[in-house]
This record gives sequence, C-alpha cells and structure tokens, in this order.
Amino acid sequence: MNHMTKSGGGNSDPVFWEKARAHLVRYGGDFAPFIAERAQGSFMWDADGRRILDFCSGQMSAIIGHSHPEIVEVVRRTMGELDHLYSTILSRPVVDLAALLAELAPGKLDRVLLVSTGGESNEAAIRMAKLATGRHEIVGLSRSWHGVTGGAASATYSSSRRGYGPAQIGSFVLPAPDPYRSRFIGSDGIYDWRAELDFGFELIDRQTTGELAACIAEPILSSGGVLEPPIGYMLALEAKCRERGMLLIFDEAQTGLGRTGDLFACERDHVVPDFLTLSKTLGAGLPLAAVLTTPEIEDICHERGFLFYTTHASDPLPAAVGLKVLEIAIRDKLTEQARTLGAHLRNGLLTLQQRHACIGDVRGRGLLAGLDLVQDRATKAPAPELAHRVARTCLELGMMTSVVRGGLGIFRIAPPITISKEEIELALDIFDTAIRKCLP
Ligand SMILES: Cc1ncc(COP(=O)(O)O)c(C=O)c1O
Repeated sequence: MNHMTKSGGGNSDPVFWEKARAHLVRYGGDFAPFIAERAQGSFMWDADGRRILDFCSGQMSAIIGHSHPEIVEVVRRTMGELDHLYSTILSRPVVDLAALLAELAPGKLDRVLLVSTGGESNEAAIRMAKLATGRHEIVGLSRSWHGVTGGAASATYSSSRRGYGPAQIGSFVLPAPDPYRSRFIGSDGIYDWRAELDFGFELIDRQTTGELAACIAEPILSSGGVLEPPIGYMLALEAKCRERGMLLIFDEAQTGLGRTGDLFACERDHVVPDFLTLSKTLGAGLPLAAVLTTPEIEDICHERGFLFYTTHASDPLPAAVGLKVLEIAIRDKLTEQARTLGAHLRNGLLTLQQRHACIGDVRGRGLLAGLDLVQDRATKAPAPELAHRVARTCLELGMMTSVVRGGLGIFRIAPPITISKEEIELALDIFDTAIRKCLP
C-alpha cells in the first residue's frame, strides 16, 4: 500500500493539506504555504515547479547548501556501512570528529560529547556546569534562544515562556546587548554597554542565593534579532563570571563553523568559554550537535557520575557527516567566503537602507545579517506587520526569508555560505521589490 500523497497537484493540492491539517501538530505558528519537492544548493523547488532562493539555509543550518554532493556521498556510504549503534559503542567517525573539533576549537576545549540537536547540546552543557560547580543557578541573556528542552528553555528568553509551568529554579536574566535600541545611552550619546552589564549583574547579585553555576550566551543573538555584542562585551562578561566562580557557555549553534567570518564567532572576542556548543551548522542540515569542554571540567563531571545517555549519542552516521562538513569548511575556506560575501551583502543592504526609510538598521557579521524594519527611524518603533508582509511578498517573488519571533520587525538573513554573488544580487533585488510593493 502506498501512503505517499501524489505529486502533480501543485502547491494547493487539497489532499496534501487536508492530511497535514488532520495529522500534524502545529509546533511553531503557520506552515509555509507551499510544498517543498526538492532542494539543491541555494534553492528549493516547490510543487508548482517554482524555484525559491533559500535565504535561511533551511533552519539556519545548510551552510554548504542543500544536498551537497559530498554530503550525499557520505550519507549513502555510511548508511550502508555503519549507521547507528548502542550508545556505549565507539566508532571511527565519532573519535575522529571529536579530535578534529578539539584541534580547531579555541583554547583547550579538548573533550567532546556528540548529540543530535542544539537544545540537547545546551542541556548537556548546563547539566555539566551544574555538576562541576555543585550549584544550580543559570544566567541567560534576555533575547536568547537555546532550545525547547527543560534546561535550555529555562535559559531562553526570546520566545514565550508562558503556559508550561515553572522554569528551572534559579533562572536569571541579563539585559541582552542591543546597540540599536539600548536604554543605556551615555552622556556622549553612545551605547554604554558596561553600565548595562554592571546593572545586570547588580540585579543578579541581589537575586542569587549564592548558587551561581554558569552564564550561557550566543556570541551573536540570532533569534533575538541578530544582536551583535560590542567588542569588549564578551571579555567583560567573562570577567564577571570569573569573579563569581561561574562557568561560561557559548552557544554557537548558528555562528559556528564560519558563518560570521571566523570558524567560531567567539574568536573575534578573544574569549575562550568553558563550554562551546555547536549544532545546526555542524551537520549542515542533518541532526548533529556537540558540546566541547575542558579536560578539567570533564574529569570532575565524570568523577561525579555525569549522565547524559541518549539514543543517538555518538552515532556514526551524523558524525561522518560532521567530519565531511568540517573538511569542506576548511578546504573551501568558508570563513573567507563569509567575509567577502558578507561584505557584498552588507553593502547591498546598506544601499537598500538609503532607498527605503523603513529600514532602520542593518547589522550582523559575515553572512549572518539583520535587517530591522521600523515605523519611523527617529523612534525606532518596530514594524512587525510590515516585515511579515515583506516576507510574504519575498516568497511570492521566489525567496524564503525569516522574520524573528516576538513582535519585532527584524529579518534574520543567513544564506548558505556557498551562495554566489549573483544569488546575493537576486536576493537584494527581491527585497527591494518586496519592500516597494508593501509600502503604502
Ligand atoms: C543559538 C541557538 N541555540 C540552540 C538552538 C536550538 O537548537 P535545536 O532547535 O536544534 O534544538 C537554536 C535554534 O534555533 C539556536 O538558534
């Protein structure tokens, strides 16, 4: 019996949508209004045969484009040889990937745990930080996204926390650094992030019961609106953590492996965290995530009986994919690509900003950019409805984009790093036309 819906009915295929409506849990708002049939490189094709430029790299993950031929080859071969194992069994892809990550990562982050998703990697880092310090309080930034599992969700503040009961006891928040809209402006008119950070920790120090374990942060807060902490911020954050005996976790789900122009975004900040988590980009679209930490921390956790035993821990198939992704990232100099193409993208977005008053801010680093739409440049009031109209029009014109959640009008732009200059030009043209069409 064939259970597949038949292609040929186009995007509006009633059988497909009835089946979807009847049987799918709606986990994150509306589904995109088309049926994806295939994806290759920087494009997807829908059931009407339309080509759609994927300016989100899938879910911010496909850094080397869709169905990269070398990844396809690795998946085919590994699937036929060594797919999945009992979680205590080791294999060569796992040990080789752990060793390569340790070699490439900054500092002495030599011990690696391989899991499946970003949420899981942060969950594991948080659990290790609690076990190693013997404390339980976790500090996050107010526009963070670390995942939807218990510990990761408790440190996530850029999505709704309502409806699921208490967050983990001892979840504290620091104001996210937002150079564009900060309330902390010095007498010189410049964003005073030091005053903001001092104030944030003054509040943390008042709330803590003396059990501060760790602070978790994205080097660029992507889901929070592509907020780039100013140079010096991460060093100061690290110092605040050290003063309090807290560990520092950097979540590089989106920024890791080249997107920002460095292999790891924290390299710009010259800060080596105690934990570095990787996910989305590590599998370049396949479920693979990693926690990197120091031998000292891992030894303490091991002595204290650390347990994070999951079905897919140390699975060879995704590890083989991760190894290939790293090999391609280094061989094809993705960091340089991200810098060069990122500069091209940024110039194009700045030109659009000159043309359209509704673009309040253009920000980001490398090929992770933010386009902040406003009702008026003076007040910087966000324009979420306009942003969603523009996103819908972009899709009609053949480009998938992402507007961050939470009533903000911010486009999060993260194309594959393998994108061409011509494809960036196409994206800029589509943005330009879409904004024109949507303005009254
Ligand atoms: C920075 C960051 N960390 C963690 C996650 C969660 O990853 P996952 O959805 O794979 O659990 C995300 C997802 O968007 C993310 O952006």
